[in-house]
Amino acid sequence: MPWWEQAVVYQIYPRSFQDSDGDGVGDLRGITQRLDHLVWLGVDAFWLSPFYPSPLADFGYDVSDYTSVDPQFGSLDDFDELVAAAHERGLRILLDLILCHTSIGHPWFREHPDWYIWSPVDGPPNNWVSSFGGPAWSRDEETGRWYLHSFYPEQPDLDWRNPEVVEAFQGVVRFWIDRGADGFRLDAIDRLIKDDQLRDDPPATDTFPLPLREDAAKLQRLYSGNRPEAFDALASIRAAAGDALLVGEVFQPTSEYPRYLEVLDLVFAFEFLFSPWKAKRLRAAVGPAAELGRVAWVMSNHDFERLATRVGPENLRAAAMLLLALPGAAFVYQGDEIGLANGPGADPPFDRAGRDPMRHPMQWDATPTGGFTSGEPWLPPVDPGERNVEAQRDDPGSLMSLYRLLIEGRKLLGDGFRLLEGLEGLVSFARREHIVAINATAGSQAAPVTGPPELTTHPDPLADGLLAPHAGVVTRESG
Ligand code: NOJ
Repeated sequence: MPWWEQAVVYQIYPRSFQDSDGDGVGDLRGITQRLDHLVWLGVDAFWLSPFYPSPLADFGYDVSDYTSVDPQFGSLDDFDELVAAAHERGLRILLDLILCHTSIGHPWFREHPDWYIWSPVDGPPNNWVSSFGGPAWSRDEETGRWYLHSFYPEQPDLDWRNPEVVEAFQGVVRFWIDRGADGFRLDAIDRLIKDDQLRDDPPATDTFPLPLREDAAKLQRLYSGNRPEAFDALASIRAAAGDALLVGEVFQPTSEYPRYLEVLDLVFAFEFLFSPWKAKRLRAAVGPAAELGRVAWVMSNHDFERLATRVGPENLRAAAMLLLALPGAAFVYQGDEIGLANGPGADPPFDRAGRDPMRHPMQWDATPTGGFTSGEPWLPPVDPGERNVEAQRDDPGSLMSLYRLLIEGRKLLGDGFRLLEGLEGLVSFARREHIVAINATAGSQAAPVTGPPELTTHPDPLADGLLAPHAGVVTRESG
């Protein structure tokens, strides 16, 4: 079995994890210092959001050098130390690979204009829109030509039909694998290849099951992305990556995932991430994704509402059990294990798309900066006095202790998966001889379990066949 099949992967947002030099911004050395937290939790691996040199128009998702470390985050030596420290502890390391676009400040944009996608006319050639709103085409002031950007104008899209682009990224992949990377999260991979005739996207006929900005929601992304031709480009990444783990960020419904899984190992289960905390909706998201067998279960990340804000603090223990009892790999965003909610962000905001609230620093202790920095944090911690790693580590009843228990306990769950349908208010499934039942409501619900509880979210959540509000249980059933 590949190491990642049942892995728990912890997402680190380097800017907000741990600062080691007092400049108020997290860095690679800081991550090395905090690795024992990951060991304590029992996770198998961590994914680092980008730390490459970047003008920070999209906080590192606009890369200006793919084989280096931004001085704010440290150096390649720091990276090597981090890899060594991680591997010593049995932790695997995944990097973020941003393939769809570079920063407009990347030297490639001027040195190799033919590596990018340009309009054949003097203006936008079609109706494609950027994920962040507005047209996906902007005028390059220097040349007067119009270029494509699926995200911010500072992120021009690469032309993956150009073999030189493919070769350049194969080199990037090999560079990091040689330095010890165990895999990659592939950013925005459904935007990799676009229609070569640049045809207009048709009007949307169905509602897209994932959230989109207003102008994007009006169109069906038939030509501006999610193209079948992406297979060759993905295969070239696979060729360079060998058996390193490739996890795709495919912002598409579950039904679109199979063709990506022909090349990738896992894709994030986005319908699950966005499902409201309602039993029926959760079951509808879990069923088809579980059938694919190779999704990465995920409930939050640096782009969308934090888990505590989205499902409410009362549901955090049940959400943790659901995430960690599903079959296959699970991703946990830093801070979710202590119940960190969205913060206020910054005024004026750093991120024009409004994602600062999900990126506040990790809270390690109860001091005003939460132990994140000895300087002025780039964003203030939200509530370190109320929740922090130090306090929760010492408290067996804490959410963080529950995460640890569930990460250990999930190893007991056998393979196999059968969703139990029709149970009011419950998300419940069988994993060989175990039954998992999660009560997604504020009332007690009849639970289909008889065996003794092996894992619970709360003390004694079962009474007279009823599962307590907001509670979850794993029982071993006989026969
Ligand atoms: C997805 C990343 O998670 C997000 O932060 C970024 O803005 C876009 N892709 C564009 O790279």
